Amino acid sequence: MLSGKEIVLIISGGIAAYKSLDLIRRLKERGARVIPVMTNGAQEFITPLAVGALAAENVFTDLFDREAEQDVGHIRLARDHDLILIAPTTANLMAKMVHGIADDLATAVLLATDVPVLAAPAMNPKMWQNEATQRNVKTLTERGIALVGPASGEMAERGETGVGRMSEPLEIVAAAEALFRDRAARNGQLPLAGRHVLITSGPTHEPIDPVRYIANRSSGKQGHALAEAAYAAGARVTLVSGPVELPDPSSVDVVRVETAAEMMKAVETGLPADIAIMAAAVADWRMATEGTQKIKKDGSGKPPALEMRENPDILSTIGHHVSLRPELLIGFAAETQDLVKNARAKLERKNTDWIIANDVSPATGIMGGDANTIRLVSKSGVEDWPQMDKAEVARRIIARAAEALNG
Ligand code: CTP
Repeated sequence: MLSGKEIVLIISGGIAAYKSLDLIRRLKERGARVIPVMTNGAQEFITPLAVGALAAENVFTDLFDREAEQDVGHIRLARDHDLILIAPTTANLMAKMVHGIADDLATAVLLATDVPVLAAPAMNPKMWQNEATQRNVKTLTERGIALVGPASGEMAERGETGVGRMSEPLEIVAAAEALFRDRAARNGQLPLAGRHVLITSGPTHEPIDPVRYIANRSSGKQGHALAEAAYAAGARVTLVSGPVELPDPSSVDVVRVETAAEMMKAVETGLPADIAIMAAAVADWRMATEGTQKIKKDGSGKPPALEMRENPDILSTIGHHVSLRPELLIGFAAETQDLVKNARAKLERKNTDWIIANDVSPATGIMGGDANTIRLVSKSGVEDWPQMDKAEVARRIIARAAEALNG
C-alpha cells in the first residue's frame, strides 16, 4: 500500500518528535520513500542527523537554502510527491496553516501544496481544548486536511493526562494507508471492493523437540506483499502467516501460526473467500511424535533416527473441498528444476486455477530476496514475467486476479 509512495514528512517542534524517528522506520519498512522537512522547533528535540540517517535522505530545514532553491525546492517538495505527512503537528503550526502564514520551509510547503495532507497533532490537552485550536482543527478539516489523533493518555508534563498525545507510529501508518485507499476508491480504482482474499505466507516451523525445529528459508516477503496489494485493491484480507521477521501489514487480519497443522486450521477458519493465494512454504513433513524432552547425544556417535509424517497439503485440501474452494485458487511452486512441467503437475494435482512458479535455485536469490521472477501457469498457458520487486509482482498478480474474478 505504501510501497513506492513518496511521502514528505514534516516534523514540527514538539516532544512527540522523538516518535517521528520510529515513524520513519515504519514507513520505510513498508517500502515508502520518506523525504524529511524539519522546522527549527523540531531541531530542538531531535537532530537532522538522526532523521537523515533513518530516512537515508537529505533533510530539508531551510527555506532560503541556496542549493535547494536553485530549482525552487520548496515548490517541488510541495508538489512532486504523493502525501505530506505532518508528525508531530503543533498547535502553532496548525494556526499558521489556517492563516496561510509561510515563514519557514514547512509552512511554505504546506501553503504551496496540492497533494493530500495528513496531520498528527500533538500538544498539551489544554492547548488542544482551547477554542482557538478547536476552530483551527475545524477549518483545516473543512479544507480537506486529514487528521490522525490526537490520542488520550499521559503527557510529557508530569502528572498531566488528557487528549493531546500524538498517535503511535503504526496508527499513523494505518491512517496514511487508509487515505491512499480512500483516494483510490473515489477514483473507482478498487477492483476487489467487497471481496475477501485469504493469503498464506512465510515458512512453517515443525518442532523436533522443545528446542529444535525444522524450518525453511521463506521470508514471507511475497505473501505479505500480496496481502498489502489485495488490501490496496479494496479487499478484506486475511493473512495466515508462519513465523516471519516482517511487520504485520496494517488493516489486514493477521493470524500467526507456527506449524502446518495450525496453518491448515487457520485457513479453514478463515475461509470462505473469493480468492485464496497459498504463498506459504509449508513444511512437507513433521515429526511423527514431537519429543517433550530435548534429544540428547547417547554417546554412540550415531545421529538419532527422526521419524517423520507427511503434513496436510493445505492447497490441495482446499482445492478439492466441495464447499470451501474459493472461486479463484492460486498456488505457488518453488522449484529448482523442470519449472513449468512441475508447476503444471501441481496445478492438476492440487486443483488450482493458477500456479505462480519460481525458480528458487540459490543463484536466483529469490528465497529471502526482494526481487522475483515468476511464470504464471494456468490451464490456458504459461506467461513469463520479467524480473520485478516482490511488491510489483504482488500488485500485478492481484490486478490479474481481480480481472479474472470480475470477468
Ligand atoms: N502447500 C500447501 N501445503 C503443504 C505444502 C504445500 O498448501 N503442505 C502449497 C504451497 O503454499 C504452495 C504449493 O502448495 O502454494 C506448492 O508447494 P511446494 O512445496 O512447491 O509443492 P509440493 O506439493 O510440496 O511439491 P514438492 O515439494 O514435491 O515440489
